[in-house]
Amino acid sequence: MKHFLKLLDCSKDEIVAILDLADQLKYEKKHNIAHRILEGKSLGMIFQKPSTRTRISFEAGMYQLGGQAMFLTNRDLQIGRGEMIQDTARVMSRYLDGIVIRTYDQQEAETLANYGSIPIINGLTNFAHPCQVMADLMTIREHFAQLEGLKMGFVGDGFNMCNSLIVGCLKAGMDVSVATPAGYEPHPDVLAFAKQMQTEGAKFDISNDPRKAAEHADVLITDAWTGMGQEDEAEKRRQDFAGFTVNHDLLACCKEDVMVQHCLPAYRGEEISDEVLEEHADEIFEESENRLHAQKAVLVTLMSEKYEILG
Ligand code: CP
Repeated sequence: MKHFLKLLDCSKDEIVAILDLADQLKYEKKHNIAHRILEGKSLGMIFQKPSTRTRISFEAGMYQLGGQAMFLTNRDLQIGRGEMIQDTARVMSRYLDGIVIRTYDQQEAETLANYGSIPIINGLTNFAHPCQVMADLMTIREHFAQLEGLKMGFVGDGFNMCNSLIVGCLKAGMDVSVATPAGYEPHPDVLAFAKQMQTEGAKFDISNDPRKAAEHADVLITDAWTGMGQEDEAEKRRQDFAGFTVNHDLLACCKEDVMVQHCLPAYRGEEISDEVLEEHADEIFEESENRLHAQKAVLVTLMSEKYEILG
């Protein structure tokens, strides 16, 4: 694996290998076993949108791995003044060992990868949020000790999180049921992938009915109704997403011991009720913590020569 741009690019074996390594790195961190696997390596972090979790977990992760991270916004880079991403890729490749990019257009991350010569990691685009979904899969697997055969229900916007959840969960062998309001469906490439997986026996359905997505779900997942850069549409979105709140009524459709995941930030009273978030806070904040371990596994996979996974 050269880059980590979207889960559509990854095989099931690659996803499982990253999850196994993430488990090991989490164990080592909890037991104070140093793992300075990326000593001397530098990670550039191009962020064109705000971030709490992604920024801090990548910076802390690189530090724990013995390397260093550089946080760079549009204000810091000539990209903000119109320098081409192609040229930026070729320059940064001569200084650094890897780049995380958080931006709007997926094509920008792909171009960085096409023109640079170092690993590129997607820290969120409008199309995909693969690092978040690796943390979600890690957390679900920790909770249930398996992924295959579990049902993931997603209720909300068919945006980056939904796109990556569909791909990641189907590749991991989970059943996937999605409910979005009309007009907020996932990306056509993702729906085409899901359709192909259906022909190979995977269980996938999509509707405008949150109860259908929640029915008998082992894991119920939602995300903010208004993403970064969509703030002008917030009021319209609140109206369009009416009835899509993950609350006690919706949880009653799920399996009794349903797990709830939310990538955060959460807007209580919109996509999730305050009660549900607090009752499932342990699961949700474990998911947040697992950003650190899952991303360290991605960094090690892409940026180290070799690291042995203990049996
Ligand atoms: N979930 C997530 O990506 O959080 P941040 O936007 O805070 O990085």
